[in-house]
This record gives sequence, structure tokens and C-alpha cells, in this order.
Amino acid sequence: MPIIFHKKTKEFHLYNEKISYIFKILANGHPGHIYYGRRLTDRDSFGGMIEYALRDMAPCAFEGNSTFSLEHLQQEYPSFGSGDMRFPAFELERQDGSRVVDFKYQKHEIYAGKKKLPGLPAVYVEKETEAQTLEVTLEDAQLGARIVLSYTIFEAFPVIARNTCFYCGREGITLLNAMSGSLDLPDKDYEMVELAGAWSRERHVHIRPLAYGIQSIYSLRGCSSHQFNPFLALKRKNADEHSGEVIGASLIYSGDFLAQVEVDNFDVTRLIMGIHPNEFRWELRPGEHFQTPEMILAYSENGLNDMSQTFHKLYRTRLARGKWRDKARPILINNWEATYFDFNEEKILALAQKAAEIGIELFVLDDGWFGKRNDATSSLGDWQVNREKLPSGMKSLAERINQMGMGFGLWIEPEMVNKDSNLFREHPDWVLADSRRNYCHSRNQYVLDFSKSEVVDHIHGQIRKVLGEANISYVKWDMNRSFSEVFSNGKDRSWQGKARHQYILGVYSLYERLTQEFPDILFESCASGGARFDPGILYYAPQGWTSDDTDAVERIKIQYGTSYVYPLSSMGSHVSASPNHQLYRHTSLETRANVAYFGTFGYELDLTELSEEELLTMKGQISFMKRYRELIQGGVFYRIKNPFEHNSSAWMVVSKDQTEALAAYFRVLQPTQAGFERIRLAGLRADWEYAVTEEMGGTEQCLGEDRHFGDELMYGGLSVSDVSSGLRGVAREKQGDFLSRLFHLKKI
Ligand code: GLA
Repeated sequence: MPIIFHKKTKEFHLYNEKISYIFKILANGHPGHIYYGRRLTDRDSFGGMIEYALRDMAPCAFEGNSTFSLEHLQQEYPSFGSGDMRFPAFELERQDGSRVVDFKYQKHEIYAGKKKLPGLPAVYVEKETEAQTLEVTLEDAQLGARIVLSYTIFEAFPVIARNTCFYCGREGITLLNAMSGSLDLPDKDYEMVELAGAWSRERHVHIRPLAYGIQSIYSLRGCSSHQFNPFLALKRKNADEHSGEVIGASLIYSGDFLAQVEVDNFDVTRLIMGIHPNEFRWELRPGEHFQTPEMILAYSENGLNDMSQTFHKLYRTRLARGKWRDKARPILINNWEATYFDFNEEKILALAQKAAEIGIELFVLDDGWFGKRNDATSSLGDWQVNREKLPSGMKSLAERINQMGMGFGLWIEPEMVNKDSNLFREHPDWVLADSRRNYCHSRNQYVLDFSKSEVVDHIHGQIRKVLGEANISYVKWDMNRSFSEVFSNGKDRSWQGKARHQYILGVYSLYERLTQEFPDILFESCASGGARFDPGILYYAPQGWTSDDTDAVERIKIQYGTSYVYPLSSMGSHVSASPNHQLYRHTSLETRANVAYFGTFGYELDLTELSEEELLTMKGQISFMKRYRELIQGGVFYRIKNPFEHNSSAWMVVSKDQTEALAAYFRVLQPTQAGFERIRLAGLRADWEYAVTEEMGGTEQCLGEDRHFGDELMYGGLSVSDVSSGLRGVAREKQGDFLSRLFHLKKI
């Protein structure tokens, strides 16, 4: 996996078995992009791929030469105003207001491994031999300022990790835009894949053809958002899940972001990604520097599913950290949809007792345990146990639950405050809002100014105390509103343009402190469901609450979309009540579990109201999940049939050694006189024979066994027809809407 520098041609070639990434230092000293894609054999020069053209009105860098124009050259980290008219990767302002810059190659360094990004999440190596890093330093001689472009290539992944660092020189500068990276591609024959949605409809897959001009997704909400995810992919028109060329781009960041694709009028495509430049203004004084978040580029010539598998493996094993990274996740019960705010010790213990009886491993006490919080109007910021609700206190409650054989977990929302709280009464200026004006509430709450270290320190003190006083083995860290009227009270003008990024650095620093101080605690992130389901948070919390929508049918699309980037081990997925609390839809317990198995799995409903029969079914589901969770959370995930395109859908997980798999089939509405239907499985060994059984997790019943070779299952397909004459026909009385079926495959 070398990084080679061809001195004579000043070309850099980063490659591993699968990919090549090539760029060179152009005649004007700027780095020009040459190629990113399938691996090329190394040679002295790839310069033939750079095209210089004479085009009318193009600003040209050298007198007497009318073909060297940055407007028409592909670049690595383009600036604005020196010929290039496209949207730049960075923009800065000098003391006198000039934004003209000229950063030229100064030096480079190649080293084994990868450095950490101080204060920021990033992918990492465990051994230096896993990756190599190239740092290219560019300098603007007049300013004495430097830009360091960093590129890491891994041996085992078809990815390039990029980040950028700005160093101030003799003269103070103000960064107005500082993208993590930029990628110019020579044509525009791509479609843009994005994950978009809303609260309770997160990460639906949307695909649009590229058009001239700018197309982008973004967040300016202070979190990565329900609306868009910091990810996009460019796929060839003929690329699908299992074939064709795809470039995926993912930003390891949890705040405001921009992911943008510009197609210029000569069909060059420019992808940039980074902190959103609106609301961003970062002053640097001599001696100071600014580090951007990291951006991951993943290349695949085998379709979207292959791209996703790359992200899954990279993020599961080289982004997530800590004791829980590689461990099967505990099956939990969360009391939110069981009780909402209306609980007391008795109710909690009764629920816990039922949970313990059916084999649940972790009890999670959600919102409402602190201050005097009985609804959403008060107490955020006062992280002391509510003795009226829980008279024996947290330590004793945790002990009682531990005695039942379960771990004990707690919900917190450390970044927020209600006006009705001691914290707000003492520190009204700690809200991130212009307190001289009216400012919006959302769910009656306000954002604490985490850009200030004293605020983060104060909250840290409170939360550390709570976590230290009771035996807590899990924390659900919530964040339930978007930013508005952002202003950091009492801070000077220059701070205001930094506040939104400083806020996220504050969140990361609190996460870092708490995860270091409590290394045994499993952290799950949450933001009104999935408003901060991003790679940045995954560095601290190896799992996240995928969506507040727990309806099984809606969850198929949400989890399917989420799987474009995020591994199953990161997706919080619970069985909740029927009718569902968000959509009032009735679904069978079996279907609810069949969807929730493909994630971290748990329950979120009032067990004390269920029948013995239902509890027995759940008991079966729990032992089923215990048997298969290693396979599910650590296996290779395949999307088989797309729920955005069909009434039925399917996905599967295959063990790394391909000897075992679990496949799920879901059908939303029951068609009348249904046709025959097969799902083509994936990831199996063509020449191995598999025993295929249909599983009913809850009853631990296997509905018979068939035998098929891998090639038949993958190229012919597995029959899921209602009327199939074989073992797998569905009995008529079992048919109907919201049907789901689960198949287990084992190599014979
Ligand atoms: C958010 C979360 C829910 C729950 C509530 C509690 O909406 O997404 O899971 O924790 O807050 O207030």
C-alpha cells in the first residue's frame, strides 16, 4: 500500500490492491488532481490524463500561455479568484480585505500509520503498517501561511481519508470557508445518492442525476440533522447495489455541514465536503492553526452495496472505539414508550421484573428521572435524581435492577436547559442565544453554550457525579433541538463565527472525558431519534438511536437507508407496542422483531400489560437474538431488495467465513392473487450447499428445512411465494399485510 512520489514529474500516487489516487504539482505550484478510481499500475507519469485547453475568456496563469487556466484544470484543493470560477474548497481574508491567495507546494512528508486529529473524531490505525499518510504542505509566500493537505490510504480498505489544516503565518487571516477536502472528476455522468428525511423519517434514499450547476445537501441546524446526513455518493447511471462504479463521501463530523457537487460547463464534476461556510468565520492569529474534520472517500467498482460494506467495516473497526466496539450488544428494555414521564419506582421495578423474566439484559431508564421533570417543560440542566419519583435514589435502584440480573442504564441530555431549572436561574447567559432578544424554544428547551469551556466543565461535573454514584453500565445521550439565534453571550466578535464549531468541539470533549472516565459504559447517541446519526458521534458512542419511529414498516426504509453508511452494530432498533405510538399501525410481534433483529435489538413497551403468550414469544425472540447477534452485528450486510422501489423488500447478513447467513423478507401489503416471488441472495459461496430453514424467532420453531447450493440461491433465488408448493409456502391464515419472513442458512 505504498505512497509514491515521482520526483521528476512531481506526481503522487497512493495505491493499494483496489484503488489508485493520483495528483501532481502543476506548473504554478498548485496541486492538480489526476485520478481516483480502480487501481492503476504505477508508472513515472500519468500526466497524459491532464488536459490543457484554449478556451475563450479563461483567465490564464502565465503570460504567453493560453492553455494553463485553473478554470479548466482539475485540482486538489481549489481556491477562488486565481482563475478558477467554481465554488472553492477554501476562502480566506487578509487584514486589508483581500481574498486573493496563492498557495504553492512547499514540501511533503510520507509516513507509516496515521496521526490522531486532536479534539476531533477520525478513523485510526491499530498498527502503523495498516496505513500510510501523505502530508503535502502548501505555502502562500506573502502571508507566510501554510495549508497542510493530509491523505491516508489503508491497506485493507478502498478509501482515502482526507483532512486539511491551516497554519497562520506572519499576518492574521480569517477563514471564511475551510472544506475538509475536494475532488474533481473528469466527467458528469453520475447520479447523486443522498440520505434525506425528517424527524421519524430519517435517511430515506434519494437519487438524482447530476445537472449543470450546484447540487448540495447540508445542515445549519447545529447537528448533522434528520433532514440530511453528512454523506453522498456519486454513482454511474448503470451502477446498482451489486455492480457499477460508485464513489462514496462521508464526513466524520456532527455539526453544520455542506456536501456539494458542482458540474461546470465543461462537464467537470467537483465534490466538496466540510463544515458549512455559512455562519463560519474563523480568525487565526500568528502561531494559531485550524484543523478541519476528516472526510472519507470510498471507491467501489461493485456497486452501492460494496461501498456500504467498506464503510461498515471501516467505521465498525477503525472509527468506533472502546470496550464495546467488538462486543455483542446487550438486549435492552427502555421505559420511554412504556411510561413516558409517568413513572415511579414501583412501576419501574415492575417493568424491570418482567424484563428480567424474559431474558432482557439491560434496563434503560429514559427521560424524567431528574430535577422535578414530569413533562418536557422543566429540569434539563439539573442532573440530580428526583426523589419524589425515585425515593430510594439511583444507587439503590441500580442495585435492585442488578439483583434481577440486568445492567442499568440512564438517559441524559447534557447539552440542553429548560428555563424552569436551577441551572438556568443561576446562569441565564449560558444559553447559546442572543439573550437581548426573544429566542425560540423547541420542545420548551434551549441549547447550552458548549462553545464555552466553563459550561462544558460544569455539566461534566454533574454527569460524572451521577455516573459515579450508581452502577451504570449504559448511557443514552440525547440532543433534542436545532439551533436558532446563535450567539455566545459575553464573547467578543471574533468568537461568534467560531461558536458553532466550538460547540461541537465542546460536545466531543465531554464525550471524550466521560468515555475515558467510564470505559465500561456503553454509550448510545440519540438526537430526537436520528438527528445526529453520523460518523463523528460513532467515534464516541458505538451505537445510536436510529429513529424515534419504531413502527416496523417504516423502520424497514429507515434501516435500509441508514445501512448505506452505518453498520448494523450501530443501529438502535426496538420492538415497540402495537398499535404503534407514532403511526397507530398494527403489526405482528413477529414482524416487529424481524425488523429489530437487524440492529442492536431491544424492547420499548409496557411489558406489564402484555399477555403470557406475548411474553413467551418475546422470550423466544430474545434467545433467538442471543444466538445470532454476533452474526448480525459482526457479519457482512447485503441489501437484497429495495423497499423504496417495491412493495416487498429483503436484506441479509452473511458470516465472514460464509458458512452461515440470516435473510429477512418483508412485504408491506398483501397482494391479491400474488405472483411467484424469489429473492436473489448474495455473499454465499456458489459451490457450497446450504441448509435453509425458515425461522420463527419467537416460537423458536423452524418451519422445515430445504437444501440448496449457493449458486442456486444467488443466481436463481430463494422462493418466497405465498403459494410455493415446497416447504416455504405461507399458510393462508398467516398471510396478510406487513408480512415478514426470516431464513437461516447453514453450510452443510
Ligand atoms: C427523544 C428521544 C426519545 C426519548 C425522548 C425523551 O425524543 O429520541 O427516544 O428519549 O427524547 O424525552
